[in-house]
Amino acid sequence: MTQTIHIPVMMREALEILELKKGMTVVDATLGGGGYTRALHGAVMPGGRVISIDADGEAIARFKRDYPHIASDITIVHSNYVHVREVLRENGITHVDAIVADLGLSSDQLESSVRGFSFQEDGVIDMRLDASDLSVQQSALSLVNTVSEKELTKVIYRYGEEEHAKKAAQAIIAARPLEKTSELAAVIDEAIGGFYRRKKCNSSIHAATKTFQALRIAVNEEYVNLENFLAVGIEILLSGGRMSVVSFHSGEDRIVKNVFRHNTKGCVCPAEIPLCVCDTVPQVKILIKKPLQPTEDEVKNNPRSRSAKLRAIQKF
Ligand SMILES: C[S@@+](CC[C@H](N)C(=O)[O-])C[C@H]1O[C@@H](n2cnc3c(N)ncnc32)[C@H](O)[C@@H]1O
Repeated sequence: MTQTIHIPVMMREALEILELKKGMTVVDATLGGGGYTRALHGAVMPGGRVISIDADGEAIARFKRDYPHIASDITIVHSNYVHVREVLRENGITHVDAIVADLGLSSDQLESSVRGFSFQEDGVIDMRLDASDLSVQQSALSLVNTVSEKELTKVIYRYGEEEHAKKAAQAIIAARPLEKTSELAAVIDEAIGGFYRRKKCNSSIHAATKTFQALRIAVNEEYVNLENFLAVGIEILLSGGRMSVVSFHSGEDRIVKNVFRHNTKGCVCPAEIPLCVCDTVPQVKILIKKPLQPTEDEVKNNPRSRSAKLRAIQKF
């Protein structure tokens, strides 16, 4: 296991908005390379508590090995963030002052050949964040090799927003069985690469980028987990508590925006009912109206930050 190569994205902005103070109890839902967690530790200790979660056991092992003094001071849990309430309960906590989530994958995962996330590094098509999680039904390997054309097209279109989803799915099915990420990338490139090369604005994107993203989202049920995590996150915030979330593509950002907005609403009774019977009250206020994006300098120093968007809320 090498040292982390992940450079935290929008960390200053994502943590500043949380208004952290010594003694606070805070959650880092996505430990990754540990940049955010180390900053949280510095901000709330002494006297505070940091609970850091990651679905990837390797990220946890790396952090414990490289930062033993911080690791022994905080609580690190190998879990999916969708289980945040249970994770906290097991540690005797019901509510927290702040939650941060820096979504997606770390550079350590993207650049590892054995995880099968990347078409730049050849490996078996796997893409599970946590291969030990028995609730993850299938790896990307079984997805690309077993589902129908209709289902595969739907996955690639919905989660990758790939306009040539049908062509990509047809090519994958014709090339079955597929085993390696390089084979999968080549099949997709052969089928739809021409569209990308002709389109000047997208010529820097590999034709397989969106399909790989789609498979990863499907395999890890990322959208439903994110939606549920955000809803539970709002419930477990103390009054005045804050949550900030950094997302990396439009599908993720849409979910964050919608869950946050939904929780700003009061009464949801139909207009024809004269008196409110739903008793719904606004749960949160939005702290950042238009999502923050990284500065030009950050993008120059860390091109992976270019698509990042930060949103934040405060609980009433
Ligand atoms: C972008 S990295 C976080 C980087 C981190 N903020 C840092 O400073 O190094 C995202 C991390 O979230 C983890 N992750 C993604 N989805 C998750 C989920 N549903 N539950 C728990 N961890 C998840 C990934 O395994 C990855 O390590």
